[in-house]
Amino acid sequence: MLILKGLKWAERKFKKLQLRFFSSASNHELLIQNQRVRSVRLLGGFNQIGISKAGRFSCTGLLDNQKVKIYECHSEEQVRLRQICEKSSFNGVSFPNLMAFDKKYVAEKWIHGLSFSKLSRSERTAYEHKLESFLNNLHTLELTTEEKSATHNSFCYLNDFLLSRLDPWLCFEDIGIFVDKWKQHYKEVSDLIPDRVSHPDLHEENIIIEKQTDRIYIIDNELLGYGKGWILDHRNSLFANKKNSHKCLQTPEIEHFINITWALRCIGSDLVSNHIHRALALAKNWTESSI
Ligand SMILES: Nc1ncnc2c1ncn2[C@@H]1O[C@H](COP(=O)(O)OP(=O)(O)O)[C@@H](O)[C@H]1O
Ligand SMILES: [Mg+2]
Repeated sequence: MLILKGLKWAERKFKKLQLRFFSSASNHELLIQNQRVRSVRLLGGFNQIGISKAGRFSCTGLLDNQKVKIYECHSEEQVRLRQICEKSSFNGVSFPNLMAFDKKYVAEKWIHGLSFSKLSRSERTAYEHKLESFLNNLHTLELTTEEKSATHNSFCYLNDFLLSRLDPWLCFEDIGIFVDKWKQHYKEVSDLIPDRVSHPDLHEENIIIEKQTDRIYIIDNELLGYGKGWILDHRNSLFANKKNSHKCLQTPEIEHFINITWALRCIGSDLVSNHIHRALALAKNWTESSI
């Protein structure tokens, strides 16, 4: 066990070294919307440098001498959804300005400020209210009919992320059974849950308070989507211990579905972070209980 931990530690150090080596040789360039991004430095590195946890390319660079963060989108529709959110007002909480985008990549302005995770408890309270209303505002964002049809296939946190990352593991009987049961529940409740805009990654590290303006910025928008994924947005956020107060989620049937979906999320997180035994035990636990 100790040797395994040591090996993992060494692997992480090696990846960081690789990242630093690539970043120090920062004469790399790329093109986005025919604009040249210079001094490209890779981000990500969860499993592979330059690749995020969701398995997509991510880096920083200079566009017209301004620092940007670039990430690969799941689809052209997800790029469109990001544009729509840019235009919306969220009372003091913003998405970084879009500096360039094409059908696949988005370049967002780099925000100079302080990570929410570095704030003291009392400093946080000043912003928490705004952040909570941000999530609620996002969930009640009204899209026009044209916007809905342009974004409804943008990215679904449940199907395109939680479910698809279990694909390689379906050969384990308990995972296979768990997934089948989850799909059955999904079928039963999906008509009862409205589609909404969702941001399932609103945790402290992804929130920056801009120094100059004191504005709050949400800086990690790779999982921005549309569909039913919003049912886990609160649990996935810094408000994990507060209950999502949306009326349509208050029935026992949907509360149960939210719990199974949370289990789906935990099983996937365990699998991708090499806690295989824990993932299998969790799946078994659920399949043996009453789900
Ligand atoms: N637009 C941005 N402005 C300022 N800092 C950023 C921006 N985008 C990313 N970062 C910094 O880079 C880190 C990693 O980027 P992020 O998109 O959150 O990727 P991940 O969480 O998948 O590693 C963030 O925690 C933050 O410190
Ligand atoms: Mg992040």
